Amino acid sequence: MRATTATIHLDALRHNLKRVRALAPRAKVMAVVKADGYGHGLERVAQALAGADAFGVATLTDAERVRRAGLNHRVVLLSGFDEPCDLALVREFRIDCVIHHDSQLAILERHPAQAPASLWIKLDTGMHRLGFAPEQARRVYERLRVLPQVGEIRWMTHFACADDYDTERTEAQMARFRAAIGDLPGERSLANSAAVQAFSASHGDWVRPGGMLYGLSTFAGRTGRDLGLQPAMSLSTRLISVRQLAAGEAVGYGATFVCPQPMRIGIAAVGYGDGYPRHAPGGTPVQIAGKNAPVIGRVSMDLLAIDLTHVPAADIGSEVLLWGPELPVEQVAEAAGTIGYELVCGVTRRVQFAAAEDLGDISAAA
Ligand SMILES: Cc1ncc(COP(=O)(O)O)c(C=O)c1O
Repeated sequence: MRATTATIHLDALRHNLKRVRALAPRAKVMAVVKADGYGHGLERVAQALAGADAFGVATLTDAERVRRAGLNHRVVLLSGFDEPCDLALVREFRIDCVIHHDSQLAILERHPAQAPASLWIKLDTGMHRLGFAPEQARRVYERLRVLPQVGEIRWMTHFACADDYDTERTEAQMARFRAAIGDLPGERSLANSAAVQAFSASHGDWVRPGGMLYGLSTFAGRTGRDLGLQPAMSLSTRLISVRQLAAGEAVGYGATFVCPQPMRIGIAAVGYGDGYPRHAPGGTPVQIAGKNAPVIGRVSMDLLAIDLTHVPAADIGSEVLLWGPELPVEQVAEAAGTIGYELVCGVTRRVQFAAAEDLGDISAAA
């Protein structure tokens, strides 16, 4: 069987949730599990994070998956519903909906009997992606409040720059949020992972961490481990070919790498068809027997070439770690010009997924 495996460290997920609780002790935690639990597998992640107070999802299908996994938590559809026909499922599965646009308000007013029992009004305080303008807050609240099926109304906003310690922008967003809601009732939620870690004043009633639960860093130049988090995914495979090449021989598509001297190279069973980034340039590290070794040539769909010069013990069958607790995904992402979030979300379903309970060595955690 092809050895390419994503191992999900369930204790790492639980460890990271504890870290959220330690940083935001007074807030409830909405664990964001969108994009199939950031690529880690929605059901397994939600079960491991059952200690959270709620789950945040992007699609109704994922909301339904959380319910079918047997979890009774509050489930929040972070972009809300799109069409009137979504409302029946929302009610059937008791899903909280974010409402961010007049088009959604109009649907609720046309179908008041179908309105969700619990709504989160999203305000756009500066990100300009989703949300009502702050000056609309009272008007939206009043229109929702009179709908007979609507029971609870909460408030949320989302930060654009909390991950670059940009105090000014984030504080301006917080101030706009506070001013817009004024004395209107309802719990408040602002903080994503970056704000959980860097802006304690933003914690409010509910924090909404995603990346940090998976051990991912949102801060440039810092790994999840630097932040006291445990990476929740190891992506690994094995060498399926080892060969000796002469100086001047080229490796891979486009012959972009030419051996400067005689070289021993290994071919690992992983490629962009598994979600390994095609843009990872030569020199991107993988790890074999605890030692870093560089990728050479172009990443192909199923295969990856590795310079084995400094890992002479490596041979057919040797395990190759692409990222994981011992090789930060942030390091691979930086080489490939992306972020760890994209890499873990992009692992494809032809990779085998396995769950591990072990926490491993957390002594490196801050
Ligand atoms: C509305 C909302 N809240 C919270 C999050 C979690 O963000 P992060 O993964 O950076 O913690 C997201 C993810 O993008 C989001 O869209």
